[in-house]
Amino acid sequence: MRRKVTVVGAGNVGATCAQVLAQRDYADVVLVDIKEGLPQGKALDINQMGPVLGYEASVTGTNGYEETAGSDVVVITAGLPRSPGMSRDDLVTTNEKIVGSVTEHAVAQSPDATLVVVSNPLDAMCHVAKNVSGWPKERVFGMAGILDTARFSTFIAWETGTSVKDVTAMVLGGHGDQMVPVVSATTVGGVPLTKLVAADRIEAMVERTRKGGGEIVNLLGTSAWYAPGAAAAQMVDAICLDEKRLLPSTAYLEGEYGIDGLYMGVPVKLGRGGVEDIVELDLSDEERGWLAESADAVRDAASVLGR
Ligand code: NAI
Ligand code: 2OP
Repeated sequence: MRRKVTVVGAGNVGATCAQVLAQRDYADVVLVDIKEGLPQGKALDINQMGPVLGYEASVTGTNGYEETAGSDVVVITAGLPRSPGMSRDDLVTTNEKIVGSVTEHAVAQSPDATLVVVSNPLDAMCHVAKNVSGWPKERVFGMAGILDTARFSTFIAWETGTSVKDVTAMVLGGHGDQMVPVVSATTVGGVPLTKLVAADRIEAMVERTRKGGGEIVNLLGTSAWYAPGAAAAQMVDAICLDEKRLLPSTAYLEGEYGIDGLYMGVPVKLGRGGVEDIVELDLSDEERGWLAESADAVRDAASVLGR
């Protein structure tokens, strides 16, 4: 049976996610936005790409939620993106209202779905979606770690002159400048990164990864969308196809990594049940310290929330 996926927000990230999902060809996609004509126009364009690329997905664009009824997964990308000089946390108040309202509408139509939050500030917006939906933590989580890890992996492949396919990396923590690229768990073709690259070059890649979102905002005047849209689609794949992928995702922690009652990026097993397991890595003392600092930053952002 074909799956049904709703993507709320037909802007840069949402439309890219819908496009990647359409190409996967296992799900019909509903694209929702408040801007009249935008989701309809983008849906039509993505449908018309099907004959060229050879997929049959049906993408529906709408300004309402009726068409989203019975979705297996709802991806939330609605909200403002960052502009130059704006931190992710500056977005909190505006996007809280948007994500809250979108969540309310979406869960009313698809009570058995899984929610994948993308809107920033990501960790705080996961709290909003969980509070508003009232759903269990297994079915409400966020996308950031796949993107941050993809950025780290790209820099490592460039630095070592190897294929990005051979890089295994993991970036944990909040989706902010305090995120934690886990060097101790990073390998290239099974060889520890620390054996291949000098410490100061690793440090430079860690710093560039932490500021990876801002680097693109400074170049484009708005935030990234190709890698974020594809990363959200990868999470949808893992859920809809019950892949049991071990992917860094923003999950609600209740004691794992010594953190309680907070959304943070950690390795999770993703399958039909959503977050089916949280995996605890053996971090170095330094990495644990950085994770605690990142948790403090997420707590600060979440403390601004009205609900
Ligand atoms: P965008 O501005 O291109 O698209 C956002 C869309 O949301 C707009 O089309 C807007 O009309 C729509 N929207 C606003 N209020 C809405 C509502 N109440 N209901 C339905 N749609 C509504 O922005 P972009 O670049 O697609 O980014 C979307 C969000 O994703 C931003 O908050 C951005 O910061 C975040 N983001 C998160 C990443 C992550 O790693 N978690 C990575 C990249 C972006
Ligand atoms: C990114 O990391 C801004 O969260 C967005 O590209």
